Amino acid sequence: MKQKISKAVFPVAGMGSRFLPATKATAKEMLPIVDKPLIQYAVEEAVAAGITDMVFITGRNKRAIEDHFDKAYELEAMLEAQGKLELLRTVQSVVPKHVNCIYIRQAEPLGLGHAVLCAQPIVQDEPFALILADDLIDGKTPVMKQMAEVFVRHTCSVLGVQDVPRASTGQYGIVSSNNLEKDIERVYGIVEKPTPEVAPSTLAVVGRYILTPRIFHHLENVKPGSGGEIQLTDGIAALMAEEQLLAYRFNGIRYDCGSKLGYLQAQVAFGLKHEELRAGFAEYLKTVV
Ligand code: UTP
Repeated sequence: MKQKISKAVFPVAGMGSRFLPATKATAKEMLPIVDKPLIQYAVEEAVAAGITDMVFITGRNKRAIEDHFDKAYELEAMLEAQGKLELLRTVQSVVPKHVNCIYIRQAEPLGLGHAVLCAQPIVQDEPFALILADDLIDGKTPVMKQMAEVFVRHTCSVLGVQDVPRASTGQYGIVSSNNLEKDIERVYGIVEKPTPEVAPSTLAVVGRYILTPRIFHHLENVKPGSGGEIQLTDGIAALMAEEQLLAYRFNGIRYDCGSKLGYLQAQVAFGLKHEELRAGFAEYLKTVV
């Protein structure tokens, strides 16, 4: 199997119902943290891992995402004419020139597993990264780069995991595992959204995966669950019965930007790190808390 991960899949076709009405006409992944949309943070993380092909699985709100990663001729000409060269550079560097953006339409939101399956015609028989942009992870080393290193050493699927409070297991896929080496677990079980009473552990899968192409075969055979959705977790459980599966405790702080509270926490953390805003924002926060 190929050792180098060159493709990343970004499912951006979800309903984003927790953010309505903000997501009525645009994808949740276009919501900004300070001045950059979530999807751009995710693409930058993939670029830092050496990935060159970005595969977006889009839905009814695909336009904003395509436009964001396209060249914006009129806007660029206007910024140049106005001498706003710093802003011009910001707009031009949304994606590096060597990166390809590929868009596939998920006609109906039939679940994350189905969204991943939609990437098969492009990914074909290569291992690939899967990034859920609404999990924003701030790592000194970008998290997908950390995971690509684990993949190179073990050549098998890797799930990004973190410990969560037991009361929250019902929001995640939860793994059962044995420790293999520092920060790496060998997974022997995975269940979707168990209640705290029955959860086999508190080790939760968050939005980072490296998957072998065999996942597509299993996703094709997954039966739709509640709401007619094809669950990625079911596909991963079937994959695990056949191939080694690892879980990696990444280094970094994760913000669940699919929830309003996590989104606000990310705004504060990134606001306090932002070069232009840091001092003024910290001053302001002192006055409100
Ligand atoms: P979520 O479970 O967060 O669902 O999807 P959602 O629909 O986006 O948000 P809520 O729960 O209604 O607020 C996890 C990821 O899978 C993508 C989403 O875009 C998100 O990145 N997804 C989900 C799809 O691309 N297609 C689907 O059919 C479902």
